[in-house]
Amino acid sequence: MLKSENNEQNELHKKACLVRNKNATNSVYFRGLIEFSNICQNNCYYCGIRKSNTKVKRYELTVDQILMCVDSCYRNRITSIVLQSGERTDKEFTDFIFKIINEIKTKFPDIFITLSVGELPREIYEELFRLGVQRYLLRIETSDEQHYYKLHPDTMSFKNRLRCLNDLKEIGYQVGTGVMINSPFQKIENLADDILFFRDIDIDMCGMGPFIPHSETRFANYNYNREQSLNLGLNMISALRITMPDINIAATTALETISNCGRKLGLMAGANVIMPQFSPFSTRKEYFLYNDKPVGTEDDTDLINSLKQVCKESGMIPGFEDPGSSLHFQRRRHGKIH
Ligand code: 5AD
Repeated sequence: MLKSENNEQNELHKKACLVRNKNATNSVYFRGLIEFSNICQNNCYYCGIRKSNTKVKRYELTVDQILMCVDSCYRNRITSIVLQSGERTDKEFTDFIFKIINEIKTKFPDIFITLSVGELPREIYEELFRLGVQRYLLRIETSDEQHYYKLHPDTMSFKNRLRCLNDLKEIGYQVGTGVMINSPFQKIENLADDILFFRDIDIDMCGMGPFIPHSETRFANYNYNREQSLNLGLNMISALRITMPDINIAATTALETISNCGRKLGLMAGANVIMPQFSPFSTRKEYFLYNDKPVGTEDDTDLINSLKQVCKESGMIPGFEDPGSSLHFQRRRHGKIH
């Protein structure tokens, strides 16, 4: 499936959409993405905001700024948000997250919160769940341990990342993970194994995007082929959809970066989630994970119209006001599977 091209590829994508519409939904669920801090303690070799990149201007939004972003999502009938940042494990940071969650839950009790702030001790995950965080995203980046250490320094730990995914699931979160596609040293077999990994750990959500070089990293001059990355990215979505029919799969920003209709193509390959940016416009350029990351539009009306348009073009229905829980999660919780 991953290697399919031309007609065969069209058939694959069509089949994935049929599987999605039959087993999950033909609504597109929106997640307002709030990138609230680019301060990071890790040094992932590929990432533009890794700790040792001194050219990045570091920022952290205030609680009030974050509440304004949430308000903006709410006003636009987007009732599910993703709070994302660089990774930190210090107490100052975890206390800050507790505070953010408390404030959001007080002011917007019916908003669904997904956190994406990296590896933390189990007790912190437990506390966050108790405070009302329902979902957590933590990409494994590659499910092959040896490949993992070609992309990360050995001060990081593949096993700890697995531990986190396991803890999150045991605690009761809807758990999402994902990988980069066409990353350095990756073989197509790795991607096939990644899909089996997602199936085996039984994820509820997935975000996968093509690797894109960042100029201030060791992979700055990595020779990557946009067309190939795009096709592989789309085929990964379809193959995962066919393997796990009722999970939520995002058409990611990285996909949109390598093709100007990447999100539409992602939906047409079987994805059902879009994560429009709701961070303050002024900080978006400081959250440059990779080169050419789009900063989106500042105007809410333009944004909402473009979301409606992308749904229409891909034959789907915009899921405004729908928190869009993973059906897979709901079925798992009610004991229908596993
Ligand atoms: N290309 C594509 N994706 C990247 N990410 C970080 N750096 C890059 C890059 N150069 C992704 C990682 C991370 C997510 C927040 O951004 O998969 O989990």
